[in-house]
Amino acid sequence: MVSYIEADSAPLKNTGQIKIYGPEHFEGMRKASQLTARCLDALVDIVKPGVTTAEIDRFVYEFGMDNGGYHAATLNYRGYKYSCCTSINHVICHGMPNSKPLREGDIVNVDVTFVVDGWYGDSSRMYPVGKLKRAAERLIEVTHESLMLGIAAAKPGNTTGDIGHAIQSYAEAQRCSVVREFCGHGLGRLFHDMPNIMHYGQPGKGEELKPGMIFTIEPMINLGKPHSKVSDKDGWTATTRDRSLSAQFEHSIGITEDGNEIFTLSPKGLFNPLEARGQDTQV
Ligand code: MF3
Ligand code: CO
Ligand code: CO
Repeated sequence: MVSYIEADSAPLKNTGQIKIYGPEHFEGMRKASQLTARCLDALVDIVKPGVTTAEIDRFVYEFGMDNGGYHAATLNYRGYKYSCCTSINHVICHGMPNSKPLREGDIVNVDVTFVVDGWYGDSSRMYPVGKLKRAAERLIEVTHESLMLGIAAAKPGNTTGDIGHAIQSYAEAQRCSVVREFCGHGLGRLFHDMPNIMHYGQPGKGEELKPGMIFTIEPMINLGKPHSKVSDKDGWTATTRDRSLSAQFEHSIGITEDGNEIFTLSPKGLFNPLEARGQDTQV
């Protein structure tokens, strides 16, 4: 059975316990997460056909520098050399920026974690590159909705299994599949901490959710089969085995007395790109 510990009395490492954070910690998470969210908002105007993922990476690096001199957590993390992950089409996650231009119809996830005053704000979204095929649009919609249903289940009294179940039951009812090999994670003054947040599961199973817990939910949903493989060339890039399209959305959240707070909310309401597009055309 897992135990819980006040964050201030816990060592700054993953001890296997779940840290419980207080109001001043939530404030730290808000600040870091809002820098990340503003960067992801700014990328809406950058991600276009012809742009390279290396240019996106450069933009993220500069954004941190220009807005207070902050670094992304991924830069030099376990040998990873970039300020973001850029995962295109059948890439599930941890795609590395490179010099290949994006093409009309691509879907790309950009995952950014800025560190501000020691706090980690981790979020990712999908960006459509020009006009998409219907199947790609549908996958983005299903994945976004999966995350939001997972967040709705993240409240005191529920368990991590309730979150996973909410995501899995919806995604599979939409004839999509849930990647099992990667999960959400506790975070705070650590990038990856307890608990693990599975994106599949059974109601009432797993760890009980308590006010003060802080973690990400970041479902990776495939149009085809759920199975993934990691590139043996670079050791990072995870792709679908069947090369079907994959999408992901990620928020960092904190459990409150009556539900949760989403730290990485988009200030401009651009988190769901298809919804945001609809808003554009009405102007
Ligand atoms: N931001 C990713 C996550 O959601 C982790 C990326 S680690 C990297 O947990 F090294 F691949 F960048
Ligand atoms: Co994460
Ligand atoms: Co992330």
